[in-house]
Amino acid sequence: MGQNVVTPIEVSSNDNLCGILSGSGDKSISHRALIIAALSAGCSRLTGLLLSDDVRCTIEALRQLGIQISEPNGNSVLVHGAGIGGLTDPVGPLNLGNSGTAARLLMGVVAGNPISAVFIGDESLSRRPMDRVVKPLRDMGASISLAASGGLPATVGGKNSLIPIEYHLPVPSAQVKSSILLAGLHCPGVTSVTEDRSTRDHTENLLAKFGADVRVEALNSGRHICVAGQPELNPQDLLIAGDPSSAAFPIVAALLTKNSEVCVKGVGVNKTRMGLFDCLREMGADLQVVSRGEVGGEPVADITARTSTLTGINVSADRAPSMIDEYPILAVAAACADGATVMQGLGELRVKESNRFTAIVEGLTKCGVKVEEEGDVMTIVGREGWTSWHHMPKICTHGDHRIAMAFFVMGLTCPQPITIDDMSMVATSYPGFTDDMALLGVQL
Ligand code: S3P
Repeated sequence: MGQNVVTPIEVSSNDNLCGILSGSGDKSISHRALIIAALSAGCSRLTGLLLSDDVRCTIEALRQLGIQISEPNGNSVLVHGAGIGGLTDPVGPLNLGNSGTAARLLMGVVAGNPISAVFIGDESLSRRPMDRVVKPLRDMGASISLAASGGLPATVGGKNSLIPIEYHLPVPSAQVKSSILLAGLHCPGVTSVTEDRSTRDHTENLLAKFGADVRVEALNSGRHICVAGQPELNPQDLLIAGDPSSAAFPIVAALLTKNSEVCVKGVGVNKTRMGLFDCLREMGADLQVVSRGEVGGEPVADITARTSTLTGINVSADRAPSMIDEYPILAVAAACADGATVMQGLGELRVKESNRFTAIVEGLTKCGVKVEEEGDVMTIVGREGWTSWHHMPKICTHGDHRIAMAFFVMGLTCPQPITIDDMSMVATSYPGFTDDMALLGVQL
């Protein structure tokens, strides 16, 4: 974990992708299921958990906080919850690796316990802004010190009774919302969060499933969420839905390569995550979505994608929260479309695992694609704007798993091979990525 050997790869044009993949567990839901199970009174079984580097960081951190979690049996673990306020002081720092979700959500949880924990992460995580969760958690009574940069390392000193707050999110962020709601479980009284644009709602869904009193009111394009503090959460036997953010890569690969048909089974289709699929459909993608009911309280479907001719579209800023992790792969689809695609409201891309805005512009430009940037707006001119290159482009992933997978897909559609500087970090979110691509017929 976190010690992956740098693995450069050369990717060449590759058509005829064909096959059926069983989607990997959703990363966001996996983190949340572990954390909420740890706060429950008794033993939960979580099945279909994503056992990626990020999720393993959450498992290790919870163990350090005194929670007993079994070794995975297949993709299933047992979590022996300690109840609300039942965490104990860790003996060493909590190393959250590359995971912003683990760091921010666990800060909210630690804040509600009378313990102190030091949060550290890898170089990428240490650069990411933590003040967005620290401010509301301080308002709730936690004492937190942060590095001068506003990132990690951070020391969180919690309390056994926090003060409930009403918080209006300044940026649409499911991590910030979740951190506050999880801290809110430790308050006497009701904590509320208002978001102007709906972000992924897995925390709310899972809290309700584990028996918390959560109320959600729809606003114009956002939500007002309230959670009642100090509940007794009931352990669950929970299945985890597939991850649409990972499924996106083989699905777009099928759309962009000739004579391809790929099905990913059991993909979570919660509408707070569907922005990319809405965009692809508007671009003319041949996507078939067959509902398979619910898994762990989340709607799931089998999604089949076939080779398609895509046309550029305008993607408004309103859509960003429902596809915040999908811009790198949407950018690749846009580069292969007819006509320009304009993507607005991309400010948050600058504070992800890398500065994804810059990484996309830089990578596509190296591949001969015409990209324009103006503030938080990126315009990608489609295939007609491509220029040829003389040297094999070397894509710099900046250690970012989604940049690596997006440009892998780009390589399948380029006239000449490209190299990607490092694929090892796909273990962050999709450890089986290259195996799955090989299964679909990609020659590696
Ligand atoms: C996530 C929320 C998003 C997303 C991240 C996972 C989550 O981050 O980019 O990969 O699980 O809550 P923000 O909350 O910063 O938008």
